[in-house]
Amino acid sequence: MSRSPSLPDRPTLDLDPESPPRERLEALKSHYVDILSVHRELQAQLDRVTSRREDLQEEVDSLQRENETLKTASLYLATVEDRTESDEVIVKQHGNNQEVLTEVSGELAERLEMGDRVAINDSFAVQQILDDETDARAQAMEIQESPDVTYADIGGLDDEIREVQEAVEDPLTQPERFEKVGVEPPSGVLLHGPPGTGKTMLAKAVANQTDATFIKMAGSELVRKFIGEGSRMVRDLFELAAEREPSIIFIDEIDAVAAKRTDSKTSGDAEVQRTMMQLLSEMDGFEDRGEVRLMAATNRFDMLDRAILRPGRFDRLIEVPEPTREARAEILRIHTQSMNIAADVDFDRLARETEGFNGAQLESLSTEAGMFAIRDDRETVEMADFRDAVEKLETAAEGDSPAYTAYIQ
Ligand SMILES: Nc1ncnc2c1ncn2[C@@H]1O[C@H](COP(=O)(O)OP(=O)(O)OP(=O)(O)O)[C@@H](O)[C@H]1O
Ligand SMILES: [Mg+2]
Repeated sequence: MSRSPSLPDRPTLDLDPESPPRERLEALKSHYVDILSVHRELQAQLDRVTSRREDLQEEVDSLQRENETLKTASLYLATVEDRTESDEVIVKQHGNNQEVLTEVSGELAERLEMGDRVAINDSFAVQQILDDETDARAQAMEIQESPDVTYADIGGLDDEIREVQEAVEDPLTQPERFEKVGVEPPSGVLLHGPPGTGKTMLAKAVANQTDATFIKMAGSELVRKFIGEGSRMVRDLFELAAEREPSIIFIDEIDAVAAKRTDSKTSGDAEVQRTMMQLLSEMDGFEDRGEVRLMAATNRFDMLDRAILRPGRFDRLIEVPEPTREARAEILRIHTQSMNIAADVDFDRLARETEGFNGAQLESLSTEAGMFAIRDDRETVEMADFRDAVEKLETAAEGDSPAYTAYIQ
């Protein structure tokens, strides 16, 4: 807190008109000096106050800016449920499902239609109309008629491929076999294992193999981009899958929405909880969904809430392990198929020298080797290039290069 600074006393001068001129001159001189010193003091005070005023003005500006951002950030999402004759609409807020009657005016009122997604403020006034719902759907879900990964592109996962075929592909392509024997195919298939080992590839390859529409949703995006809408997105996902059957739902990085419940009560957590509850309830009602298969993948199996692993939910677990030596050789062969490889390249040997590399790292190894050959102005990639590439990737790992560490456990 700053008080107004006390002002110096005003100098006064009582001139005796009777006194001799010399004395009066002296008195005037000294008065002048007094005035000068007061003036300096006042000037100094003024400077201090001006600079303080500037500081305060800056503070006001920044508070004003903060206020603006806070005002704009506190919009909530809602859907227009109904509208009355008199420019009133009923909106339903996402998340808490609260329904309110609110007035809209002017240009907005003309454009609002039932089913529109809108942004509302604290007092439920409609602020803007949001993009079409279908756009949001498309953003959150990636729909592919047939992804371009095939089983032949996956190295060293023969057993896992067979398991996925039995659990996902066969029920779609030969449902009668399951009916004849009288067994229910698994409800959901969960691929789990360390990063960069081919889980996402595997899911895409199944979709490629069948005529099914492949609908992919990334758990991390669901919680990051669609705050307040996660559970609705999950509902949409299953609805869309039913519309497009036969179809495969693939939820990648499912740990983001199905992590163990924690005690923390932050709204973010509550939101993730709601998304997961919706997922559980969709899965429970899954039996009557016909030709829709459900897959998910995670590299954080330890984090998953066990509720999603109960029978009738993700009840077939397929572990995708780090590649073995044979698998590493096979993965290297796959990723160098289109490369011009010199006769001296020995993949079995390279596989022995790449202990601990995962599929993604082996892919970058092949690319790096190719780069070394290009840099050397050669048209074939030699064993020495691969060795250099191994060394480069290993040094990168020590140097904690982000591109590499993304794939390290
Ligand atoms: N078994 C494999 N065979 C061939 N390539 C592989 C294999 N595993 C990984 N790769 C390569 O690594 C890349 C990443 O693989 P993918 O996305 O399937 O890993 P992921 O297991 O889903 O990893 P994350 O857990 O990090 O999501 C693929 O595009 C592919 O080029
Ligand atoms: Mg993946």
